[in-house]
Amino acid sequence: MSQTHLETPEDLLRFQLRTAMTMEEDSLAALGELAEAAKSADIKKLFTHHAEETREQIANLQQVFKLLEVPESTAASPSTKGIGKQAEALIARTAPELRDQVTLSAALGNEHYEMAAYEALILPVQVLGATDALALLKANAEQEIHTSQELSNRLKQLLGA
Ligand SMILES: [Fe+2]
Repeated sequence: MSQTHLETPEDLLRFQLRTAMTMEEDSLAALGELAEAAKSADIKKLFTHHAEETREQIANLQQVFKLLEVPESTAASPSTKGIGKQAEALIARTAPELRDQVTLSAALGNEHYEMAAYEALILPVQVLGATDALALLKANAEQEIHTSQELSNRLKQLLGA
């Protein structure tokens, strides 16, 4: 595996942006699997709706690359690959009656990771004063926050909590 040396804050920001792109691609794949694995129609819909948003988020990231004059590319995102693998393994060993709970829980993990990733991207872009790129990253982050709230509410409802 080739190692990228990141010497400056700009190098780091570019790398974070590249990993964010992989994160969203992984998220899109995971949401498709979760929609398939969930039992309830409304939960499936929650996942497919956020998959549509995730396509917009990828387009927003492509725009951020342009605005920051960074050549568009991806970098490895082992965290999101891991979250996806864990969900897949859990779904495979779970009784159908528990599928809604398992898929909501797995999706929550993904959304919270994404929220953290955007927070870490937003702050340096804010410091740069790149307002257009900042608005796009904030829009993505807002969708992750909103989705995580929806997942959490549905999980509470499911469990009667
Ligand atoms: Fe996302």
